[in-house]
Order: sequence, then C-alpha cells, then structure tokens
Amino acid sequence: MQTTVLDASDAGAIAQAVTLLRAGEVVALPTETVYGLAGDALNPMAVARIFEAKNRPHFDPLIVHVADFAMLETVAVVHDPLVARLAEKYWPGPLTILLPKRAIISDLVTAGSPFVAVRMPADPVFRAVLQSYGSPLAAPSANPFGQISPTEARHVFDGLGGRIPLILDSGNCQHGLESTIVYSENGTLYILRDGPIPMEELAALGPIQHQRHAAAPGQLASHYAPQKPLILVASAADVPSAAGHGFLGFQSGSIEFSAVEILSPTGDLVEAAAHLFAALHRLDAAPVRTIYAEKIPEHGLGRAIMDRLTRAAAKR
Ligand code: TXA
Ligand code: MG
Repeated sequence: MQTTVLDASDAGAIAQAVTLLRAGEVVALPTETVYGLAGDALNPMAVARIFEAKNRPHFDPLIVHVADFAMLETVAVVHDPLVARLAEKYWPGPLTILLPKRAIISDLVTAGSPFVAVRMPADPVFRAVLQSYGSPLAAPSANPFGQISPTEARHVFDGLGGRIPLILDSGNCQHGLESTIVYSENGTLYILRDGPIPMEELAALGPIQHQRHAAAPGQLASHYAPQKPLILVASAADVPSAAGHGFLGFQSGSIEFSAVEILSPTGDLVEAAAHLFAALHRLDAAPVRTIYAEKIPEHGLGRAIMDRLTRAAAKR
C-alpha cells in the first residue's frame, strides 16, 4: 500500500481523510499529544485495521475520540459528578477518562471491558476531521505496538509507511506525551497513565491515587521502547564509556558521546516532555549501540517522562 503524506492545511486534506474513514480505512492524524491512527470506532472493519496496522494485540483496548459532549453521550455514560467536573475543566484537551460504555461501543474497542476510554481532543486538525466525519473515532498512538509514540508525521511514516493510506502532517505535537488517563470511583480519582496534566493539578480536585498495576495494557512494563537498549543513569558521569553510545540529557550532556540530545537546557519539564519522543527517535536512528538516559526530577510532567523512560528501559 502506498502511504500519502498531506499537509493538513492543504485544500482537501481533511476531506480526503474523511473519505477514507467513510470507506472503513484508517488515517494518521495529529493530536495535541501525539499522532494517532484513527478509524471509525463504530465500524468493526476499521477497528480491526487499526490493530492490524500497528500489530497490536487485541487485548489492548483503544481510546475513543469525540468531538463534543453530544457525541460523548452516544458512547459512554457520564453520571459521576467528579467526571463531569474533569470533563468541563479539561476537555477539549489531553485527558482521557474511563467511563461505562454504551452498547454501540464493541468489545473489540474495549478489549471486552465494560469501560471505554474517551477523550475529546483539542488539536484543530483532529477536531476538523471528527466534526466533518460526525461520528466517534478510535485512535491509538500511530506507532507499531510497543515502540516510541510519534510526535511528527515523519515518525509515523517511518513506523507505519506502506501499511496505512494517509498521514495528515501538521508539524510537531504540542505536548509530545500521550494523554493523562484517569477514572473515578467512589469520589477518588485514579491515574492510570501519567501525562500532560500532572498529578499535582488533578489533586486539587479531590483525593487521588496512582493505579500502577491496572489492567491497562499500555502499562506493560516494556513499552514506548526504542530498538536500541536504553539504560537509565543518574547523570552523564555515571556512564562507563561515552564513545559509541548515545546520551539523552535533561539539561546538559557531554560531547564525548557519539550522539547527544538535550531535553531542556533551562530545565523546563513542559519543554522536556514535548521534545522527549523526537529525541528518542533521533538517538535510535543514530550510529550508537546504547542509549543512556538521564533521570528526570519526578514532579509535575517529570513523573510522566520518567514513566515513559522506565518502560523504554525495561528488558524485552
Ligand atoms: O494521547 C493519547 O491518548 C493518544 C492520542 C492519539 O489520543 N492515544 C494513545 O492511545 O496514547 P494508545 O492506544 O497508544 O494508549 C491508550 C492506552 C493504552 O494503554 C490502553 O491499554 C489504555 O489506554 N486503554 C484504552 N482503553 C482502555 C479501557 N477501556 N480500559 C483500560 N485501559 C484502556
Ligand atoms: Mg500507544
């Protein structure tokens, strides 16, 4: 299959994506978090194609993206007051909420769970497609299963080129990290995946807990992984030998490494998050044997960054 890459602002680009979606095809679209591989959430053929293109195991459920609250009502039940507050505060935006699913959402989408993960994205291109399509879109990150999420159209092409018909390109993703995933139970908010909305902010809304060993399969120990072995270190000084190896530094690095990426010279965690996956993609492509990644302070977005780095470092 030939993969077309279109500038999302080209005349007809949105319409072309919608035409493919109507035919049950999948298309890669930008979101404010990472690029997603979208297909009609209500069309079993399209959903099957998403799993096939990513080589994703069927036990790993998909996030359903909705344009607005009216569309939300068609896929999930919202009666929890904490959820209503969250939705009002963060949607459209980089938050995914687990909600009781309605019957139109198939077990294939939720991997048999009675809960569906829902998100109302803010990205104008994704929203334009959703609004024009008029029906919910299932969309995982647009990368082969287990690999690094794409924050540029080029990353999508490198991972899925030849397997999907269309990629809409709108440059770099704003946050560069997958959405924060939460669910609410008996007035407590559980974080299933750290993301652009940090725990400290959510804690202002009420009691909060991390659900580390949840059934969310994206929480597999090894995930977001480069092809090269990745090793976490406290600092560049802890690396035994730099030549032939790559280094992912938080604020600084050392020229002795064969390739160096710095996430944020000023130590800005938001900037570091936005640069993380692109830096990992570049280090993975660089002529290095190993990627040494410096640990990040675990507060704010640092927690989400460390979550991704820890999984990238997990032995496969
Ligand atoms: O920012 C994002 O969330 C991006 C963009 C494209 O929206 N999407 C994304 O999807 O990261 P994905 O499939 O790569 O990660 C979704 C995670 C997976 O870990 C999956 O297991 C979990 O959400 N998930 C999805 N539906 C679920 C459900 N019904 N119950 C529990 N976990 C679920
Ligand atoms: Mg993913």
